[in-house]
Amino acid sequence: MKVTVVGAGAVGASCAEYIAIKDFASEVVILDIKEGFAEGKAMDLMQTASLNSFDTKITGSTSDYTKTAGSDVCVITSGIPRKPGMTREELIGINAGIVKMVSASLIEHSPNTIIIVVSNPMDTMTYLVHKTTGLPKNRIIGMGGALDSARFKYRLAEALGAPISDVDGMVIGGHSDKGMVPLIGKAVRNSVSVSEFLSAERMDQVVQDTKVGGATLTGLLGTSAWYAPGAAVSAMVQAIACDTKKIFPCSAFLDGEFGLSDLAIGVPCVLGANGIEQIVEISLTDAEKAKLAESAEGVKKTNGLLEL
Ligand code: 2OP
Repeated sequence: MKVTVVGAGAVGASCAEYIAIKDFASEVVILDIKEGFAEGKAMDLMQTASLNSFDTKITGSTSDYTKTAGSDVCVITSGIPRKPGMTREELIGINAGIVKMVSASLIEHSPNTIIIVVSNPMDTMTYLVHKTTGLPKNRIIGMGGALDSARFKYRLAEALGAPISDVDGMVIGGHSDKGMVPLIGKAVRNSVSVSEFLSAERMDQVVQDTKVGGATLTGLLGTSAWYAPGAAVSAMVQAIACDTKKIFPCSAFLDGEFGLSDLAIGVPCVLGANGIEQIVEISLTDAEKAKLAESAEGVKKTNGLLEL
């Protein structure tokens, strides 16, 4: 299993590190446009191999896409991250051109690859890759819901005073501060609805804190987060590499599922060797359906800013 990570910044390097430590890939190539940066990150990571006990071979490349040839999965993290006070949508002007060029270059050398899009605004960047590459829709996956769900579980565990391992929950919808849909009505503590433990006000606070999880960290860090984003995308790569058939909320191109079409947005997906093996149309309450529809309107509005 060969994986390429484009972007040797904090998210891309964290993703490469987690993939290496999990040791399910034979090779990870990190590519960046900054001279020597990816090579340096790769070498530094390889010098942890004996300490972290992995055999994965990590190499770096400065803008040489021939080194990515034959990749089974390509992760696109390249582009500018947001600064405090910015929305993800404000990044579209610069990141759209980068993602379009990067995806075309990757596919030229790995025509059978599965692409995972991380760059923001992620749902719109995922849509851009669908519209400009012609890859089958099961092989284009946006990473947002896996990260947002991890933040949701963090907030649930915090509210419950429970270990994270006792909590489960899922976030669907757009990967945006306003568009996320944390499915609080479906969240559980060891199979028991969290509504049996938390007041309505506390559950609402968990939802609100989840929706601004990225912005909260950007305010604290001065830039976008990287550990959880890197961990989220590495978990998706592992599900593909090991054909686990795990369900992740992923930004997937919809053709009528959930009553939505011609956009990529976060919905439950079974991930396996073929990428998106199945979009799972879970039952939603009327309120959840309305929130997803509203979120889709927001994603389509951002998609409208693209010059396709
Ligand atoms: C986040 O929410 C970078 O969009 C990513 O942290």
